[in-house]
Amino acid sequence: MKPEAAIKIKSFVLFGALGDLSIRKLIPAWYYLERDHMLDDGLQILGVGRQELTKSQFKEKVNDALSTNVSDEYLDDDIISKLLNHFDYCCCDLQNPNSYKVLSLNLKEWSKPVAYYLAISPKLFENVFNGLNSEQIITSSCRIVVEKPIGYDLESSKDINAKLLKHFNESQIYRIDHYLGKETVQNLITLRFANSLFSSQWNSKSIDYIEITAAESVGIEDRWGYFDGMGQLRDMVQSHLLQLLCLITMEPPNRLNDQSIRSEKVKVLEALKPIDEEGIESNFVSAQYTNGKNKLAYIEEEGADVTSDTETFVSIKAEIQNWRWKGVPFYLRTGKRMVSKMTQIVIHFKSDGHYIFDQDSESLKGNTLIISLHPSESISLQVFTKPHGVDKHSTLRSDPMSLDFIKTQKLLNIPSGYQSLLMDILNGNQSLFLCKEEVELAWQWCDNALEAHKKSNQELYFYPAGTNGPKESEQLIQSNGHEWHEE
Ligand code: BG6
Repeated sequence: MKPEAAIKIKSFVLFGALGDLSIRKLIPAWYYLERDHMLDDGLQILGVGRQELTKSQFKEKVNDALSTNVSDEYLDDDIISKLLNHFDYCCCDLQNPNSYKVLSLNLKEWSKPVAYYLAISPKLFENVFNGLNSEQIITSSCRIVVEKPIGYDLESSKDINAKLLKHFNESQIYRIDHYLGKETVQNLITLRFANSLFSSQWNSKSIDYIEITAAESVGIEDRWGYFDGMGQLRDMVQSHLLQLLCLITMEPPNRLNDQSIRSEKVKVLEALKPIDEEGIESNFVSAQYTNGKNKLAYIEEEGADVTSDTETFVSIKAEIQNWRWKGVPFYLRTGKRMVSKMTQIVIHFKSDGHYIFDQDSESLKGNTLIISLHPSESISLQVFTKPHGVDKHSTLRSDPMSLDFIKTQKLLNIPSGYQSLLMDILNGNQSLFLCKEEVELAWQWCDNALEAHKKSNQELYFYPAGTNGPKESEQLIQSNGHEWHEE
């Protein structure tokens, strides 16, 4: 997407520079950007962390992060040393107001404007806003970046948004959902609106149903404390899956800019039918993994509370109440410790009314378009053909017409979502970031579903680790005559 002209960020302050997100995702993303010559030589990156480290000790940590999180085949000493030139370090206790004096002193000579990236617990946001404010280092051209989840429910997200808006304008706030940085996700807009073949068929007349699956093979591991307070609906559906749903179903934006795209996404979220107590039984399944395939059950993981009833899996039948999507079910499914990591959107087109081929072929049903985010980043359209040969009675074949982005675009590797998002922060392009309304509407829908589930008598279901989820999830989709697309 073409960024509109905006002032470029000259200095970047990374709060939580020694945390998991920085080490696993952000520092490697900076590395790839350096490799691809995307970073201005003068860009300065100030890591902020609690540990007392010298600049060179911090650079050692950055180096370690790269060795662990960038595969050996891409590591290059020259690129590492160029990247390290951008970095500096400042030790801060974010709860101590005096720390911000030190930070401000560090930044004094740095070029402006500055972007502040909060890769830290939301519990510390207010301390940071107040600290930056009291040192008067919030300027009208600086940017602030916060990660999903923005809050825990509607109320807490409103609280965070209000605190953000007390110090920054909406145009300075970059709310990250890293799914939006993924190349295939960005390609959804191009796929839909640059290909008339699809744009003309993208409605309830031609589409039977749509599935969105984000299955993960990982369990909760050392994140039990965080995750148990959230659950899979808040952790994955509230932002990642609903954002995918928005991009798949929104109306064409007037322009490719942040305002147009965001306002179309907001309309989708407004049109999402709330899941109420009556609808729970037929539209909602939540489950938790038990042990299986040599993996521990959720309640046996390190630090677990054995009585926890937090869901690690949900599948939902959603409805969008608008002209384009009337009657089309959207099945959302996501879980931890499933059989494999697989993220995909499957569009099932309707089949033709009058069928002229043999009965066996009819079971092949309509075409499917599979948009895969993981394991491959690819798009594949299943089409029917006659098998080659003289047998006139053989059943039709269903084969993929596929686009694998690594192969077709001769890429070295698919960039992580963070590369693209970091560049957008530097360049001032908000199209791939969430606005306040999107976040709050998404929470409202999730809060409703959770509330309805709590009030209903529906139990928490169970599934063994390493499987596709509970049988109730199969039943949810089958009761509508549909099925999950499994590779
Ligand atoms: C994060 C969730 O936002 O996304 C994690 O908090 C989840 O629980 C992760 O594992 C999945 O991201 P990806 O890019 O690996 O699909």
